[in-house]
Amino acid sequence: MPDKTFFITTPIYYANDVPHIGHAYCSIGADVQARYQRACGREVFFLTGLDAHGQKMDKASKEKGYASPGMLVDEVKGRWLEAWKTLDITNDDFILTTEERHKRAARKFFSAVQAAGFIEKRSYKGNYCVHEETFWPETQLLQPGGLCPDCKRPTQVMEETNYFFKQSALADALRAHLKAHPEFVQPDARRNELLGSYLDAEDGVTDISITRQSLKWGIGVPGDDGQVIYVWFDALINYMTAAGYGSDEPADKARFAKWWPADVHLIGKDILRFHALLWPAMLMANRDAEHPLGQALPKRVYGTGLIMNEGVKMSKSLGNAIDPFEWARDYGVDVLRYYLLREVAFGYDGSISKAGIEKRFNTELANDWGNLLSRSVAMTEKFFAAVTPAAAPQPGDALEAAGRAFAPAYLAAMDGMSYHDALEAVFALIRAANKYVDDKAPWKLAKDPSCAGELAGTMNHLLEALRIAGLALAPFMPAAAERSLEQLGYAPGEVFAGRGALRGRPLAEALAWGGLEPGRKVKKGEPLFMRKEFS
Ligand code: MSP
Repeated sequence: MPDKTFFITTPIYYANDVPHIGHAYCSIGADVQARYQRACGREVFFLTGLDAHGQKMDKASKEKGYASPGMLVDEVKGRWLEAWKTLDITNDDFILTTEERHKRAARKFFSAVQAAGFIEKRSYKGNYCVHEETFWPETQLLQPGGLCPDCKRPTQVMEETNYFFKQSALADALRAHLKAHPEFVQPDARRNELLGSYLDAEDGVTDISITRQSLKWGIGVPGDDGQVIYVWFDALINYMTAAGYGSDEPADKARFAKWWPADVHLIGKDILRFHALLWPAMLMANRDAEHPLGQALPKRVYGTGLIMNEGVKMSKSLGNAIDPFEWARDYGVDVLRYYLLREVAFGYDGSISKAGIEKRFNTELANDWGNLLSRSVAMTEKFFAAVTPAAAPQPGDALEAAGRAFAPAYLAAMDGMSYHDALEAVFALIRAANKYVDDKAPWKLAKDPSCAGELAGTMNHLLEALRIAGLALAPFMPAAAERSLEQLGYAPGEVFAGRGALRGRPLAEALAWGGLEPGRKVKKGEPLFMRKEFS
């Protein structure tokens, strides 16, 4: 029996600036999975939010002239909420690490790890990268210059008396978990990178400083007013806060029992180390009488690749960021969602461009899918007075064979978050349907009364392929998919109950070939996508 619930998270993005397309990419990827899981009949908890603490926030607010980092957070928060609304992101919660519920959870977590003996006060001197909010061992710095191995910026020597998290004591347990659970870090290439460069490296899982003395902006260490909790130790806990951790209210405890552990943390590969090593180590160290081996670990950490602009990682600080509002306005929300997941194989780096989105708009969306729908509906109107005909069995029918093979391939790809494979499967079905129209030439069959049965079967199969394509594309392009189903004769809201959930049967059943009901009246509408000359 598959689980009835599904808890998916995005990273909590730094609240030091407004979102760009790289952030939107991860949130859209999570939204597609949330909608897909709802369509499969699961109850979904989809969490996103903002990371509001740390030196980076402190620095950004000073540079931008705010009196406190909190004011900067208040200022940018609206833009993030607006972005997710504009992009049809169906998150169920939006967490800010400055909220009281989170401060309470973070302190409780810290105290539990401390009581279990995994936190120790030590004096420390090390090379710190403010941009990545990370101390780096000497051996990992890029030379010459002692640069941060991640962002290649200069590091600075910092000396403080801090609380240390004794992560090294958990290295063997982490290694054992990663090896016993290949599904824990996905895709596979990401796991191999992680094992090679960190877990099996001598200085990969070292004890780390998890408090800051020099910084005032953050969550205070329980029992020590002079220190705040390190931003990553604080931020990772958000996933548990939102599920109810830290509250003694019975309703919150029940919520926590229901949702934790998360089914998947979707993140960029740039922060894989924190999610696949530090976070599980923190959870293993959070022990008490009830949890002698620590808290349950998330089931999967999925690291996406990075969106590049002309081969360079897109980021605000590099000045090459694309504004998601601009592309959503110029091309449409569904088109943007589709393009990002079609163009860049999920889990791998890839470049995007205006020429690329414009080409896919005209070819795949307007021509292949949109035209197929318009033609099929028009022919049903012409040859069958708009009523979906029944199909008599047609042995060896090419489109039926493609349609029957579709669902298993699509479902496997979606479960594994191989969105590019799922979309390729849908477009292969659409291409097969287009070829089928050309091969069958219904306009010729219509002229020969002895072909009436074949004509009915042909039109039925075309409409059936379009019904299946509409269902399968809905997590990616919710509005366009609904419009396509309306043209096939479904009333608005008849197929979907909202936020991707299906009415009636779950997606795996709805995708089975033969689900189309003869007798339903098709309804010609506006073209799904109007072909455009882009200037
Ligand atoms: N605040 C931390 C995350 C804490 S999670 C407990 C953080 N924030 S971030 O805003 O810098 O980046 C978060 C995520 O945004 C990345 O992991 C990645 O998913 C996404 N991206 C940021 N730039 C991106 C690209 N250029 N391309 C793809 N994703 C990008 O790290």
